Amino acid sequence: MCGIIGFCGEEEAVPVLLEGLEKLEYRGYDSAGVAVISGDGVIRIRKRKGRIASLREKIEAEEPLPGTVGIGHTRWATHGEPNDVNAHPQAGMSGRIVVVHNGIIENYREIRQFLERRGYKFLSETDTEVVAQLMEYYYLGKGDLMDAVYSMLDRIKGSYALGILCSDYPGQLIAARKDAPLLIGYGEDGNYIASDVTALLSHTRTVSYLEDEEVAVITKDQVTVYDAGRLVVDKELHTVEWDVSAAEKGGYSHFMIKEIMEQPEAVRKTLSPRLRDGRIFFEELGEDPAFIRNCSSIYIIGCGSAYHVGVVGKYMLEKHLRIPAEACLASEFRYSDPIVGPDTLVIVISQSGETLDSMAALREAKRRGARTLAIVNVIGSSIAREADYVIYTWAGPEIAVATTKAYSTQLLLISMLTVYFKDQLGKITPEEYDEYVDELLALPDKLDQVLARVGNIQKTASKYFNLDSMFFIGRNLDYALGLEGSLKLKEISYIHSESYAAGELKHGTISLMEPGVLVVAIATCESVLDKTFSNMVEATSRGADAVVLTTEEHAGNFEKTVKAVLSVPSTHDLLQANLNIVPLQLFAYYVALNRGCDIDKPRNLAKSVTVE
Ligand code: F6R
Repeated sequence: MCGIIGFCGEEEAVPVLLEGLEKLEYRGYDSAGVAVISGDGVIRIRKRKGRIASLREKIEAEEPLPGTVGIGHTRWATHGEPNDVNAHPQAGMSGRIVVVHNGIIENYREIRQFLERRGYKFLSETDTEVVAQLMEYYYLGKGDLMDAVYSMLDRIKGSYALGILCSDYPGQLIAARKDAPLLIGYGEDGNYIASDVTALLSHTRTVSYLEDEEVAVITKDQVTVYDAGRLVVDKELHTVEWDVSAAEKGGYSHFMIKEIMEQPEAVRKTLSPRLRDGRIFFEELGEDPAFIRNCSSIYIIGCGSAYHVGVVGKYMLEKHLRIPAEACLASEFRYSDPIVGPDTLVIVISQSGETLDSMAALREAKRRGARTLAIVNVIGSSIAREADYVIYTWAGPEIAVATTKAYSTQLLLISMLTVYFKDQLGKITPEEYDEYVDELLALPDKLDQVLARVGNIQKTASKYFNLDSMFFIGRNLDYALGLEGSLKLKEISYIHSESYAAGELKHGTISLMEPGVLVVAIATCESVLDKTFSNMVEATSRGADAVVLTTEEHAGNFEKTVKAVLSVPSTHDLLQANLNIVPLQLFAYYVALNRGCDIDKPRNLAKSVTVE
């Protein structure tokens, strides 16, 4: 979703801002812009619908933008269509105050009317222009910049990460946040703000995270942060471990394929710190057995792929712990009056740690007294900071919009947590435990074996990439995985695709089975394998084609019946999903590649969804 970069330093701001914006491109956007303030207090703005490359062309073609202080923005349209006028930065009427903004100002209409009654003219349809104009209104009235900032923040309702320039203060920029991420980077050549750490990695790894309602005043050699009461806050500095190369393509044609290929390593990094002498440790949970013993129900909450991990988790946790477990979409959870109290464990899963729906669900769970545990990839993100406990996936920066390696590491952690809790409940035998750990240790190598079969998947993808409709079917954990396989395919290839519990197909959807439809049957769960097979045959009998994803030992049986079989090695039931997902990710990738899609930046999508 929208991205912010800001710089205050020694060198010219434009190249720094453009480079930062390019690093933020992966988040998804439809227009971009920069504003730079020169030493004599003139703020110049350039903005353009479309890609950063076209903004760069505009900047190069027009009068230069001198200055070492500036802000930049990638916009994912919410209020007003994507066009040059609605792009950020947005300015107050006199041009004194210029703003970039992530989030949504909920009461913008009312403020706009208030200002219009006082003669303010608006150029755009955005809620952000309201912020700039309102701040200018207070600034002109009060004559004090910080008074104006606080009055404006008091008045607006909603979520915001803001970068603000004022023409009377050419050496500084101001930042503020509430319910939208914003961090400060401390560099040798100046200081930065960014909505996402990837925009800063080539300049600095030293950052602090702005908290809700904090305001920062940033100059080239100083950062001062104030709380809502205007008292100075002593910010803790963090070192970001991710390096620059992790956020670069490294010879691959897309981030998505690079990230798919990185999965053995991501899985290794996620499991090894938690495995010692054949035992699983989650020190993050305080090693407190009461944590799970007192638990009467479990909710696993997330959006999109993170929710799909939740569905896998529901099957695993409920079966092995014998505690009722429910996967719930974050956007539904908070409005469904869920039965949640102090003996409920609420697990929130999020790659970015900034998804607004997941954040809101977490807060709702806390409000109801639940114990909350977050599984998050981005260190220091809002969800990570607000949950009672946080377990990090060590997947590294994930740049492609479609998640792959973060999903895999989330799957892994849900599986490891299942065994860890099962052990704490005294429900696992030593033999079972050892068998699981053996397979855990073998998982990265088995993932390598699956990745080595890419040729077969490519061939299958090139056979079916032209179809209009695909269905993913499976039962139990295979069904949960189909949800993710289907989402991967539709989000990057734009092929209509649905996922069904295989047994459900004949209750309506089977009417869609005809020649030209592909059914991807996932058949790896031993106990229901034959039943999935029968459901697949019901579809092929009506003219649909079928591709089967199964384990090596069953591949031979399916080869007789269907045209393409994607096989994976067998592993422990609780780890099989980690192997199964890889062919589905690769299939989606190669289908999209054959169709010439913009794989890393699918249309209309954003990496981190910070609006409701
Ligand atoms: C799909 C995808 C999305 C995210 C969802 C949640 O490939 O990436 O469905 O899984 O938007 O995002 P996070 O995990 O950042 O909360």
